[in-house]
Amino acid sequence: MNNATEADVVAKVQNSSYSADFVAVFGAAAFNDIAMAYHNIATAIAAFEASSEVNPFTSKFDAFLMGQYTMTPSEQRGFGLFQDDEITKCANCHTVGSTSQESLFTNFRYYNIGTPKNLQNPAYIADNTFVDNGLGTSDEIAVAEQAAEQGKFKVPTLRNVELTSPYMHNGVYATLEETVLHYDIQVANLFITPEVNNSNIAAELNAGTFVGLGLSDQDSADLVNFMKTLTDGHF
Ligand code: HEC
Repeated sequence: MNNATEADVVAKVQNSSYSADFVAVFGAAAFNDIAMAYHNIATAIAAFEASSEVNPFTSKFDAFLMGQYTMTPSEQRGFGLFQDDEITKCANCHTVGSTSQESLFTNFRYYNIGTPKNLQNPAYIADNTFVDNGLGTSDEIAVAEQAAEQGKFKVPTLRNVELTSPYMHNGVYATLEETVLHYDIQVANLFITPEVNNSNIAAELNAGTFVGLGLSDQDSADLVNFMKTLTDGHF
């Protein structure tokens, strides 16, 4: 995240207000070895992310799974559309199960869904040839295989998505309604210029076929209302 080296990251933690907490957990020598300290920072972040503090599972959807919340008719229809595996295919990638823990709304895979350029991205303003190739630039991928991975981004969870605007890796959409429009019409009709204009847009999305999802205004509203049941804090 815009830190040049591992040493820079470690120095920021060492100079932070929680430096003493880090030493309390990882020992007096916690900052002596950069590689070890960097690894332990990742361990600490992972522990936080796995804690109930950030995974309370207290949304309307979680209450619904436990039989303690009745969805409104619109939310119920949206849930049905979301799980449709012939037209919307949302849950093919944003996984839903029968328990809260199985319903993380991501299959943890990577896809190119034709996300358009965000012309307000500072990187693009500075250099209008800027392209974010996503997984295709990962140094975890062999160079020979990078081309096939261009434009792929990890499927994000949709839990608390109501609160996390703007949307997509580059924040190109301000609202959930625009995001649904992306899936409904834009990808199929190529009204947009995808950030990465290559041929590996996920087959599920019918890119360039001019056959959209055919959602009515009500369908789109229902999908958005369903996604809003994923906001924690209902109980
Ligand atoms: C082929 C897999 C796939 C399918 C099918 C799919 N998505 Fe996604 N979704 C993704 C990926 C990948 C991203 C992230 C793209 C990016 O960052 O550019 C995403 C992003 C989103 C976001 C933005 C989340 C955020 O925090 O930025 C929303 C909302 C969303 N999808 C809803 C839906 C809905 C509703 C459907 C069904 C109409 C759907 N998705 C179908 C893979 C999929």
